[in-house]
Amino acid sequence: MEIRVNKIISKGMAPVFLLKDEDRIDRHRLFKFLNAEDKTYLINFQKNFPVKKEHSHPLVLPSGIKVLVLGIGERVKFNNRKAMLTGRRLVSVARAEKVRNLAVNFDDFLARDNRENQKLLAQVLATQFEMANYEFVKYKTPQPEGWFFVQAIEILTEKQNGIKEGVEIGQIIGEEINKARTLSNTPGSDMTPRVLASEAIQAGEKYGIKVNVLDEKEIQELKMGGILGVSKGSSEKPKFIIMEYLRGGRGEKPVVLVGKGVTFDTGGLNLKTENGIYEMHMDMSGGSAVIHTLVALGRLRVKKNIVGLIPAVENMPSGSSYHPGDVLTTMNGKTIEVLNTDAEGRIILADALEYAKKYKPRLVIDVATLTGAAMSALGQRASAIFSTSDKIRDRLVEVGESVGDFVWPLPLWEEYEEDVKGTFGDVANSGKTRYGGAINGAIFLWQFIKSSSSVTSGPTPLASAWVHIDMAPRMTATENEFLAKGSTGAPVGLLTEFLRKF
Ligand code: BES
Ligand code: MN
Ligand code: ZN
Repeated sequence: MEIRVNKIISKGMAPVFLLKDEDRIDRHRLFKFLNAEDKTYLINFQKNFPVKKEHSHPLVLPSGIKVLVLGIGERVKFNNRKAMLTGRRLVSVARAEKVRNLAVNFDDFLARDNRENQKLLAQVLATQFEMANYEFVKYKTPQPEGWFFVQAIEILTEKQNGIKEGVEIGQIIGEEINKARTLSNTPGSDMTPRVLASEAIQAGEKYGIKVNVLDEKEIQELKMGGILGVSKGSSEKPKFIIMEYLRGGRGEKPVVLVGKGVTFDTGGLNLKTENGIYEMHMDMSGGSAVIHTLVALGRLRVKKNIVGLIPAVENMPSGSSYHPGDVLTTMNGKTIEVLNTDAEGRIILADALEYAKKYKPRLVIDVATLTGAAMSALGQRASAIFSTSDKIRDRLVEVGESVGDFVWPLPLWEEYEEDVKGTFGDVANSGKTRYGGAINGAIFLWQFIKSSSSVTSGPTPLASAWVHIDMAPRMTATENEFLAKGSTGAPVGLLTEFLRKF
């Protein structure tokens, strides 16, 4: 899609009138671009049909041009969150009404909590436009006239500088979010660990990202018993994907991103139910987010050292599966008592977090569709975030709020460690009660951050800080958020914006 910034409306662009309850259409910035007859028509239209919140009116004016008139509710209630939703909504209305080219007034999106930083607003809008214009159609027979997508959006404003730059940045981020969505949406049979690895290689090569993929033999040599254990039941071999984007200073310690890459999660011998197994081809969404966050940073020429690690496996039941009761020895030496083969994400992440130590990172962020419990806690609007650093956690919450990729904190307290102590191994992969599942997952991972192994004395801190994002709540889009069914691409937007500025 083309997104451009302009002062006057170009020919062929359908004007979009976003009206708050008290707004008069004849005072709208785009009104002056219409001819007299069209103006009268619109004034009469608003007299007869007051444009209320959530009303969408696609209209054909007497001169034959199309316009969209959308109600966006009370002025006092309009905020940045609504502005972002409105950005997606107008694209989805345009697609439904088959309007290919749109012109919007930048100032329509201004709210009390976003007018301070209008460059960021421009960026965020461009991202939202791209996201709303995405649909996963690769496996569907095209309609005879082809799939309908918006072709161009013109953002009208007098203040050109900063806004243009913001749009360019936002568009790149939106495109990479959509590519992450495509990887996640790809069915499990076509998105195996091997395919995910080759996608990482392809995505990385253009932007100076070095990609190295370890195969089963190399994973064995590194003694990554967690990854090997989980992958045993599948005929698809595990891969360990390493992406290095080193554009920072030589001495600069990197940030390491770790993404869960379970290409299909059946639950293993603790097989999931019919409802539970649905959409489990998206259990590599942490991995796809890491891949395309790195690509976004590369395209934005961010001068930092960032590493991406993705343990990729398929979790299957079979005659060679790992069993409940098995005790796995991880790369770090700590053993994991497998109480439930469906809590596989934390097992493979344990090895990846240990591998991250090689880089002496200043920060490690892992992203994983880890627990259904995170969804029980937060619903589907925000991912759960845990961190050893309150400051970094709060910063991520704030950045998420500003770009529409939300995270919300849950506690990381030592008191919870009781719940993940093993009986026959050091750490148990599932909690003792049915409560606090998302916290148990985080506390489990923390054990692999804290110390090198149970055998060596004293904790060896892995990084100055660690963040865990349980993105299960944001794996798939919900109703009324004007995103196509399937993957949301979270948290590519959050991580890219955070790392650009970190
Ligand atoms: N991939 C799932 C978590 C999940 C569920 C993500 C729904 C997205 C939507 C994960 O591997 C899992 O199965 N977790 C278990 C953990 C339990 C066995 C301790 C869960 O949440 O039930
Ligand atoms: Mn599972
Ligand atoms: Zn899983």
